[in-house]
Amino acid sequence: MEDFLELAKTRQSCRDYLDKPVEREKLERIIEAARLAPSACNSQPWSFVVVETPATVAEVADSTTILGINKYLKSATAFIVVLEETAELIQKLAQLVDSQTHAQGDLGAAVLSLCLEAESLGLGTCIAGVFDRPRLRKLLDIPPEKKIFMVVAVGYPKSERVREKSRKPFAEIVRFV
Ligand SMILES: Cc1cc2nc3c(=O)[nH]c(=O)nc-3n(C[C@H](O)[C@H](O)[C@H](O)COP(=O)(O)O)c2cc1C
Repeated sequence: MEDFLELAKTRQSCRDYLDKPVEREKLERIIEAARLAPSACNSQPWSFVVVETPATVAEVADSTTILGINKYLKSATAFIVVLEETAELIQKLAQLVDSQTHAQGDLGAAVLSLCLEAESLGLGTCIAGVFDRPRLRKLLDIPPEKKIFMVVAVGYPKSERVREKSRKPFAEIVRFV
């Protein structure tokens, strides 16, 4: 899709997926889009665990289901677990702010890039901020010094329907000066 705004309009959280595996090449392209995202001092404080093996996918889906939340992600056929790595800022900036100050913003940019690339490939995604961290850490052998930032469900959407976006009005969030 060439019109970026159209892509932004059609990307939506997908919570119902077809029973169809996501091709490895597509998963690689999605990660490539995240790898190219901007970051403070180009520190790239991220790494990704791509979960594609059905048994592990099922376990990750289980780990994202807490108190009944996210149970609909069980139909996802892949997950991308996004990890926050130590950011190395340039020395001048490192004197002013904590090295992780911008990491979450950087990771947010990477996650949106991967979601939009997935959308352009005809895939659906759903970012999950709610998940059982200790369980996921153990399952995927993630060392304690790495923070699990977000889990992104990936798969082929069951429905092509684009829901109407629910967003604050433009005028409420923008001021031109
Ligand atoms: C940081 C973050 C955490 C989120 N966590 C969840 C989640 O745990 N479960 C879920 O179903 N959706 C989750 N979402 C998706 C939001 O609910 C969704 O993006 C928002 O309602 C806007 O809808 P849209 O993505 O369909 O445009 C999360 C989104 C973000 C950015």
